Amino acid sequence: MTGDPLRRALDDVWYCVGESRSFRPGRLRAVRLGEEAIVVGREESGALFALRDRCPHRGMALSAGRMVDGAIVCPFHGWQFRPDGACAAIPALARRDDANFASVRLARFAVAEKSGLVWIAAGPDPEAAPPVPEVDFAYCGQLVEILEVEASFDLVALSFVDPAHVAYVHDSWWWRPSKTLKEKVKHFAPSPYGFTMTSHTAKTASLVYRLLGAVPEVEIEFRLPGVRLERITAGHKRLANYTFASPLPDGRTALINAMYWNLPVLNALKPLARPLMRQFLGQDRDVLQVAQRGLDRKPAMVLMGESDVQSQWYFSLKREFLRARETGGAFVNPLAPRELRWRS
Ligand code: FES
Ligand SMILES: [Fe+2]
Repeated sequence: MTGDPLRRALDDVWYCVGESRSFRPGRLRAVRLGEEAIVVGREESGALFALRDRCPHRGMALSAGRMVDGAIVCPFHGWQFRPDGACAAIPALARRDDANFASVRLARFAVAEKSGLVWIAAGPDPEAAPPVPEVDFAYCGQLVEILEVEASFDLVALSFVDPAHVAYVHDSWWWRPSKTLKEKVKHFAPSPYGFTMTSHTAKTASLVYRLLGAVPEVEIEFRLPGVRLERITAGHKRLANYTFASPLPDGRTALINAMYWNLPVLNALKPLARPLMRQFLGQDRDVLQVAQRGLDRKPAMVLMGESDVQSQWYFSLKREFLRARETGGAFVNPLAPRELRWRS
C-alpha cells in the first residue's frame, strides 16, 4: 500500500469480517481485508482459521477448494494444507521424488470470534491492538446487516462520530420524528483507544427508544480503528447497537451494524427491524459514496465547529496509534474530558 499512512486503514488491528454463522464447519470462505485475500475455514471442532488465500504452487485461490479430512485441498493440483498453514501433501509427487515441501507454508492471520461475529487481524501483532468488541450482557436476539460502501475507510469511520449528518441523512419518521435542530450538550471522556460520550438520559423519543418502555441511559463509545459501540440501558433491559468499518479492496469499505437485545419481545420485531436497519445504513452508504467522489477530486476536508471535534479526535487517535507503532512505544490517548455543544 502507498500514500499517507494517516489516510489508510490501520494495519495490525482487528476488523470484523462477518457473522459467525456464515462460517460453517468444513467449509471455506473467501474474505477480503484491504488488499489482502484471506481464506477462512472452520474445522469440525468449531475452531476458525484464516490463511492467505493464495496457493504457493501457482497462486490459485484456496477458497475455491474444499476441506477434506481437516485439510484444505487446492482445486488446481490438489496440494493440501493444514489449518496451521503447513503444506501436508503434494499428490503429484512420485515415490522417488525427493522434493522437500516442509518449508511450504501459508501466512496465517489471527482470528477471533465474539458475540456472533468473526474478526481478523491483518498484521502480526494484534496483541497491541484495540480489543475486539464484546456484548456485556446475555442477549437473546441479534440482528446483523453488512453493506459495501464505495468510500474510504476514514470517510465511513468519520460517519460514526458525525452528529451533524443525522438530521439531514437519517430523517426517517421512525428515527427522527422532529425536523427542528436543537442545541445538544454532551460530555466526553477518553476511553481505551478512543472516547466515550458518557451516559445520559435520552430525550429524543424516537421509536427505537420508546420500544424499551422506559427512559433509557445511553452511552456511546468510539474506538480505533472504526468501532462505535452504543449501549442503551433501561432498568434490566439492554440494547446494544454496534457499528464497525472494515477495509475492502480498491478503496471500498464494509459497513457493519450489529444490534443485540435481552428482551425476548423484540425477537418478534426482527423481521420489521431488518428493513429499517437496511434503510438506515443505506442512507449512510448513498451519501458517503457521493461525498467520496468529491474527495477524490480534492482530498481535503474543512472541519468546523464543535460538531466536528469528534472527527478531529479520530485523526488525533489515529496519528498517535501510528506514532506508537512506529516508535514501538505505548499508545497514549491524546484526548482530555470535554463538553461539546452542537445543533442537531
Ligand atoms: S496452484 Fe495449488 S496446487 Fe497447484
Ligand atoms: Fe449515519
